[in-house]
Amino acid sequence: MLLAHDDTGSGTPLLLVHGFPHSRAFWSPMVAALRELPDGARVRAIAPDLRGFGDTPARAPMTLDQHADDLVALLDHLAVARAVVCGLSMGGYVALALWRRHPERVRALVLADTRATADDDAQRAKRVELAGVARAQGSGAVADRQLPGALGKTAREGDPTCVAGLRALMAGASVDGIIGALDAMRERPDATPTLAGITVPTLVVVGSEDVLTPPKDARALAAGIPGGRLVEIPAAGHVSAWERPHAFAAALAAFVGGLDSSDDRGVA
Ligand code: MLT
Repeated sequence: MLLAHDDTGSGTPLLLVHGFPHSRAFWSPMVAALRELPDGARVRAIAPDLRGFGDTPARAPMTLDQHADDLVALLDHLAVARAVVCGLSMGGYVALALWRRHPERVRALVLADTRATADDDAQRAKRVELAGVARAQGSGAVADRQLPGALGKTAREGDPTCVAGLRALMAGASVDGIIGALDAMRERPDATPTLAGITVPTLVVVGSEDVLTPPKDARALAAGIPGGRLVEIPAAGHVSAWERPHAFAAALAAFVGGLDSSDDRGVA
């Protein structure tokens, strides 16, 4: 199954993997901000809808490993040999699965507002409960549950457009996609043992107001990756790329622009 996707610009391929329960539309403000930057103009931004989200239908299996394989099938389709893989939150879990399964397709990693650890028992129980909410009350109720934790204080209290836009994005998710993703995240393995073996340049990004994957955990994540770098986005929460698209784009453009350009054309 080919993932629905946007593919814009030319230059270093950048694969943007959305979080839960989002879609490729999550990245639109950040990609627009990227285009305003000199380095950002030299990036080919590829933003797919993971299966079950946006315009990609839900179809079993919806595991994180399957998402990683779907992304590689998309890279094949686009004749991209290697991409900078940038995943936010659930997208970060997928990015780590992609690295574990297909390291030869990864030029560099950007792990934003995410973690390597598996769910603990309390988190697994919350997934089951949230799946029940999705079944009984639909995506709008899931969006209302997720919104306060996803956004930082600055956006929650001072940016109603940002809040409403994220709610609409989440409420637009399908119930099947939500349930599939909750199952996949609940079952995901601990990726911590993978970190020490990462051999590509890696940037960890975190919003300073992220309460779900807070800066102290992001610092530990970056420290666990050889040469791992960290950028903290001020006045942003767990969806830093949505809340502060310009700051996120600047961090991304600087990172991608700094990669050795000798082998990053990415055309198979
Ligand atoms: C996300 O934003 O993708 C979620 O917070 C991930 C999760 O629930 O673990």
